[in-house]
Order: sequence, then C-alpha cells, then structure tokens
Amino acid sequence: MKTSFDAHGEVLLVTGGAQGIGAALARAYAEAGGTAVVLDVADAPELAQHPRIECHRVDISDRDAVFETVSRAVNRHGRIDALVAGAAIQPRSNVADMDPDEWRRVLAVNLDGVVWSCQAVLPHMRSARSGAIVVFASGLALHGRAQASAYAASKGALVAYAKSLASEVAEDRIRVNTIFPGVIDTAQFRDANPAGGEREHWQKTTGIGTSEDVVGPLLYLLSDAATMTGSTLTRDRAFSKE
Ligand SMILES: NC(=O)c1ccc[n+]([C@@H]2O[C@H](COP(=O)([O-])OP(=O)(O)OC[C@H]3O[C@@H](n4cnc5c(N)ncnc54)[C@H](O)[C@@H]3O)[C@@H](O)[C@H]2O)c1
Repeated sequence: MKTSFDAHGEVLLVTGGAQGIGAALARAYAEAGGTAVVLDVADAPELAQHPRIECHRVDISDRDAVFETVSRAVNRHGRIDALVAGAAIQPRSNVADMDPDEWRRVLAVNLDGVVWSCQAVLPHMRSARSGAIVVFASGLALHGRAQASAYAASKGALVAYAKSLASEVAEDRIRVNTIFPGVIDTAQFRDANPAGGEREHWQKTTGIGTSEDVVGPLLYLLSDAATMTGSTLTRDRAFSKE
C-alpha cells in the first residue's frame, strides 16, 4: 500500500515550532499542502518565509495569549485540524537545591502550556467533530533522571493528561495521542546532555536521531490512517550502530 500525507486545506497548530522537531514538522506539513501556525517564544525568520507557515511569538504558559492566537488563527483560516504540543524546557537542577520558581516555570510551560493549548483548540475541533492532538512525552517520564526531576514530572503528568483527555473527547471524534520521540539532536537535547556521558553512549549504541526522524510518526498520528486514541507511540532506536 502506497500512501502519502495530504494536508491541503488543513491547519496545524504547533507549539515550540521555531526550531527542532516542531520546526521540522511545520515544514513537512506545509510541504504537504497544509498551513502550519507556529507558537513559540523564539522567532523563526527563515521558517516564516514559507508561504504556508506563520509564526507567532507566544509564551504558551500565558493562557490568554494562547487563546487569542488560536482565535486569530481560526478567524483567518476558518479551522484548526490538528495540534502538536511540543514546546518544553528542560533546566538541570538537583532536587534539594531547586529554586521553587524554576519548578513552577517548568510545570507552567511543559504542563500548563499543553493544557491551555488543548483548551484553546478543543471548541473548534468539537464544532467540526474532528481533530487530532499529539502531546510530547519523554523517556524520562518513565525512567526519570538525576537533575531532571521537574521535566520528568511534567512529562509523566502529560502522559496521564493525554489519556484522560482522549477519553473525554472521543465522542467528539477528536483523537489525542502521545509521542515518545527517542533521542533527537536538538537545542534542548544538547543543553540537557553535554558532550560525553550519556550522549556519547547513545552515539555509540542506538544512535542519535534528527528532528526529521520524528516527522513521519507525527504525520502518521495526525493522519486518518491513525485510528487510535489515548495511545503512546515510541519512536526509538531508529538505527543501531552495534
Ligand atoms: N530532543 C529529544 O531528544 C527529546 C526527547 C524526548 C522528548 N522531547 C520533547 O520533544 C519536544 C520538542 O523538543 P525539541 O527537542 O525539538 O526541543 P527544542 O528546544 O529544539 O524546541 C523546543 C521549542 O520550545 C520553545 N519554547 C520553550 N518555552 C516556550 C514557551 N514558554 N512558549 C512557547 N515556546 C516555548 C523553544 O523556544 C523551542 O523552539 C519537547 O516537548 C521535548 O520535551 C525531545
């Protein structure tokens, strides 16, 4: 069976899409004929040059700003077909020394930001009786990691959140799935994994993927071919150097 992803006339909202996995997805979605609306705290001037990618500077922990941006996007394009919630931060701190503001900031961006994004798109998907939402988890949600407790906790919470949301909106024909992207070479990955240590171990064993490696699984989850909801998809060990 030969299939290809066709997004003509459809609109994707991607948070954290100025770079990394989100940017690769925005590009692929636009190339497939859809419009990608990117929400990020960072600018992405090169990405914004694409005629079907629009970039908005929004902090997704700011609920009002997220709602306003989604509402403007719906006014302009008339619909939101998909949400990929990728924006996240991963500072490194020991549990004992962590500044309470840092703990709150990680949850505000990684968890609250996803909740606000879902709340903002849901009314539009509900009225269309159609929609696909993908939330990013992380292997750390299951395995944890020293100096990453806030990030790991936020990602663990997202797995439970996505499953609960999937149950709630199934009757509206909206699918909600979670992706574990694996080890991907992005700015966040490099900041969280300085050279040497685990990074070197992954390089020698499973290999480190690129943002483009996650695009196929994401497009699949957004496509009609993916009939599942409340699922987790693990894109891991794309190639082995062993
Ligand atoms: N790269 C990996 O190996 C890996 C592994 C597991 C999970 N993930 C998850 O994949 C997703 C994409 O990450 P990535 O690796 O492409 O990272 P990335 O750092 O390249 O991209 C994250 C983006 O989020 C944006 N962002 C941060 N705070 C924001 C805020 N408050 N509001 C709006 N945007 C904000 C950043 O500016 C950045 O553009 C994240 O949820 C990450 O946790 C990545």
